[in-house]
Amino acid sequence: MSPPASTIRCAGCGYAAEPDDPYPFRCPRAGTDDTDHVMTRVLGLAATSFPRGGEENPFLRYRALMHSCHVATARGFSDARYRRLVASLDDSVAGVDGHGFAVTPFFRSRELSEALGLSPAGGVWVKDETGSVSGSHKGRHLMGVLIHLAVMEEAGLLDSGDRRDLAIASCGNAALAAAVVARAGGWRLTVFVPADADPAIVGRLGDLGAEVVACPREPGERGDPAYLRLRERLAGGALPFTTQGNENGLAIEGGETLGYELATAIAALPGGLDHLIIQVGGGALASSCVQALREAVTLGALDRLPRIHTVQTSGAHPLERAYGRVRVMLPPEPGPEAVRQAMAEATAHRSAFMQPWEEAPHSVATGILDDETYDWRAVVEGMLTTGGRPLVVSEELLLEANRLAVSATGIRADPTGSAGLAGLLELRRSGAIGDTDRAAVLFTGIQR
Ligand SMILES: Cc1ncc(COP(=O)(O)O)c(C=O)c1O
Repeated sequence: MSPPASTIRCAGCGYAAEPDDPYPFRCPRAGTDDTDHVMTRVLGLAATSFPRGGEENPFLRYRALMHSCHVATARGFSDARYRRLVASLDDSVAGVDGHGFAVTPFFRSRELSEALGLSPAGGVWVKDETGSVSGSHKGRHLMGVLIHLAVMEEAGLLDSGDRRDLAIASCGNAALAAAVVARAGGWRLTVFVPADADPAIVGRLGDLGAEVVACPREPGERGDPAYLRLRERLAGGALPFTTQGNENGLAIEGGETLGYELATAIAALPGGLDHLIIQVGGGALASSCVQALREAVTLGALDRLPRIHTVQTSGAHPLERAYGRVRVMLPPEPGPEAVRQAMAEATAHRSAFMQPWEEAPHSVATGILDDETYDWRAVVEGMLTTGGRPLVVSEELLLEANRLAVSATGIRADPTGSAGLAGLLELRRSGAIGDTDRAAVLFTGIQR
């Protein structure tokens, strides 16, 4: 048996999971020191080329980059057998949610481009995730994990008759996506939610068969209580069906399908893309996009990376704070080696850079209120290497961006889903984006 064409390694300490490890989700050394341990799928580049297929399902189109596909191939599965497995899981998702995964639209919005005063040579492009499974991009992270578990069972490395429970902490899109995808795969799921979670979402989670556990904030407790309860359940043996890379590094790989779609679309744009503005909560979305675009460049499918900018709310911006702490260690125009060294330092001393936000934050953009940016390291590095910046936007700007997003495109994004546009408005007004620049935003979540 030849080794798989990718490995799962900790970006913090270098630990590599065994190829037949069914749970290569979290670094076993995480929590034992101050290093930022995140398991990351590392492609064996010699054995890989960027897929050019036309399949509608991104998990089929980009399967040549997926660790689950590499494991299946190494275990002797034919391509047809892997495709059948993915297609059958996707049929089950469609059975639960009405439709399965499909490449999402990416288009230049004339209305948004004009509203921002960009010339015909420049403009605003929108990647619309609101029609994806369960109404957001979150299902991508979890479908990747589900496919991995299914391959492990079919390869005989996991016993389908003796499944552990899945668990997640979320009160919104991630929880809904997890409930849909877990149900499609026939897995039991527990969702830890804050005490004030939206009753409509809690009801829907119950309808989807998830066990919902409300988690009040205990006096004096630091950090998100739902996340703390999740950690306890994981310590008891549940599997992390989360969209946070530090808990489940494979969740990032599933999210990369969004970035691969972007890379494919950008490569076809004469002139490419200058800026990508991404709203950040736990950081998995931005981390997935950074990794996917970087892989596309390395594999020769894309000429250059756009500048990656991030958006958080004035209510909580732990990523911007961490970025500032790394930035001061660097010269004004840092080269790749200076960035590499600064990031190595930050990775080895996580608590000096990323700290949970002190107060319970509030914002109209409820999906990006995480106390902590769990996937901060990859995102800070992505901004530093591309010359992007972390933006902190006001409530007024989030609301203005949402009104503009809906009226200009007709897409019913919610304020979290259109928060990237708030960042773009800020960049444009500060003069950081010129008339001929080409910028993209991700409309990630639908109004509920
Ligand atoms: C609609 C939407 N967009 C963006 C995000 C941010 O994603 P991440 O937490 O991976 O940074 C979230 C997170 O919940 C979300 O629900």
